[in-house]
Amino acid sequence: MCGIVGYVGSNDIKNFLLEGLKELEYRGYDSAGMAILQDDSLKICKAVGKLENLQKKCQDIKVDGFGVGIAHTRWATHGKPTELNAHPHFGEFSYVVHNGIIENYKELKESLDAKFVSQTDTEVIVHLFEKNIEELKDPLKAFKATIDALKGAYAILLITKAAPDKIFFAKEGSPLIVGRNGDEIYFASSDAPLIGYAKEVHYLEDGEWGVVQRGEVQLFSHDQKIEPEFKPLTINKELAQKGGYRFFMEKEIYEQSDVITETMMGRITENGVDFEEIDEEYLKGITSIKICACGTSYHAGLSGAYLIEKLARVPVTCEIASEFRYKDPVLHKDTLFIVISQSGETADTLEALKMAKNAGLKTLAICNVDNSSIVRLADRTILTRAGIEKGVASTKAFTTQVMVLWMFALYLAQSAKTLDESQHKKELEAIMHTPHALKVDENMHERLKRLSKRYLHGHGFFFIGRDIFFPLALEGALKLKEISYLHAEGYPAGEMKHGPIALADPELFTIALMPKNLLYDKIKSNVEELSARDSTICAISSLEFDLADDFVRIHEWDHFMLEYYEMAVVLQLLAMEIAIRLGNDVDMPRNLAKSVTVE
Ligand code: F6R
Repeated sequence: MCGIVGYVGSNDIKNFLLEGLKELEYRGYDSAGMAILQDDSLKICKAVGKLENLQKKCQDIKVDGFGVGIAHTRWATHGKPTELNAHPHFGEFSYVVHNGIIENYKELKESLDAKFVSQTDTEVIVHLFEKNIEELKDPLKAFKATIDALKGAYAILLITKAAPDKIFFAKEGSPLIVGRNGDEIYFASSDAPLIGYAKEVHYLEDGEWGVVQRGEVQLFSHDQKIEPEFKPLTINKELAQKGGYRFFMEKEIYEQSDVITETMMGRITENGVDFEEIDEEYLKGITSIKICACGTSYHAGLSGAYLIEKLARVPVTCEIASEFRYKDPVLHKDTLFIVISQSGETADTLEALKMAKNAGLKTLAICNVDNSSIVRLADRTILTRAGIEKGVASTKAFTTQVMVLWMFALYLAQSAKTLDESQHKKELEAIMHTPHALKVDENMHERLKRLSKRYLHGHGFFFIGRDIFFPLALEGALKLKEISYLHAEGYPAGEMKHGPIALADPELFTIALMPKNLLYDKIKSNVEELSARDSTICAISSLEFDLADDFVRIHEWDHFMLEYYEMAVVLQLLAMEIAIRLGNDVDMPRNLAKSVTVE
């Protein structure tokens, strides 16, 4: 979730680069850096933490006249957020910024004789380029040979003293835009930094690459020279940051399918799950697990408890952090204590973690923000890599937390040997399929928009599910509550007849999660009981259900977790569309804060 910008021209390079990074800062900010080249003179500056640290650090850098510059704001995936790992990465005479993941960086690194100083996958690009230039003696050919050797996703900007008035660029799988205003050329990984600078833009396609110099763009698609298609840049800043979506929440729902790939990256291989953050030695002697979290993260934790027990047969309890703190809990040293938090700053979760540490338990944080208080305190951390979440209602943080827990469950199952080969393979294949299940189907979104108008009144909602679909029901109800201000409750479907069914009438809306692959017949009979008592039923399933007043059809998946993930998206979109119809500010619901740092 990094961001990049670049510039060729004479108009205050440093200012454009810093302003550009500011516009991208919302995507991630564990470190940032820039490099400016004027003939043979290079100025490079990097800083850890927020962008203001970089601004302060490069205060004394003065740049007048023509030059080329590249800059980057980083959200760590490979390697810790340190200055050495911040971009631009450099070799002897060249500098690079990169978004994406180079999958074959380890092989490439082994084939090079260069001195590597960072732990990133990016650094290999610049050393490979310099090796190619030595052999080919031509910067453009050397750049092409470099990108031809890369596997993975990338948006790359590279500057070199071998061609000091140029920026080399390439795009494959990560966004990159080239902008123009007369002789000045700009680059950015999204529209926002270009607003107010570039008059026209060309959105690069995968496989496009080339080189720019003052007033000139040479563009290629694979081996073919092509003409850029510049069109006017008309978008405004706010819309640009939201990527054209109406709300950050909507953007974050849509990006889940890409983001989850980052969560999995480097942790899933054909043979199984591997985490560089933990090892079998660390988990030795652990006989049970306790998970502690708040809100949505708690719902992810509950889901994780089902997964770990199912796959690894390790007993798990999951508790709400604010309850755990004051109940004088019994803690045993052979229990692994897991805390889950998007922000890493939630006061109750942090306090629960302190208690577990003080009691001598091994602690593991599942968190989205590196260097946060929770990450600093826990023995070990697995980052969810969801990128910055701006919408107050959590979406992509939730789905990535569940993914970490699912992978962790399989990791434990591997060492405990609780699954046979075909069960293990089935889990692995399902994990790898998750990006498809999270992809928003536009037709589905349209249907939910239309459906939402029927669910604006009534005296309440029950979201019901069984097994792991119960915590998903809790999450669906929380999403609706927090942004629509309608009363909603998540409930285990089998428990309805022990009380809540008394509420059933046409004004009680039941949102029923009916997965084909898990206890379908059981949930079906629970829903039939509610239907018989006239509750209005909205069923979410891949199997037709005649008694439903409204039916939301999901795809046919062969694993319940893929149904879980597609249903998660349906519930997020449904809550958002209801809230929009009610005229609420979806990104800033009343009475709520993104990070709850007080008790
Ligand atoms: C709901 C939501 C909250 C958070 C909760 C914990 O959409 O975002 O319920 O999940 O406040 O926050 P973190 O995960 O930052 O500890």
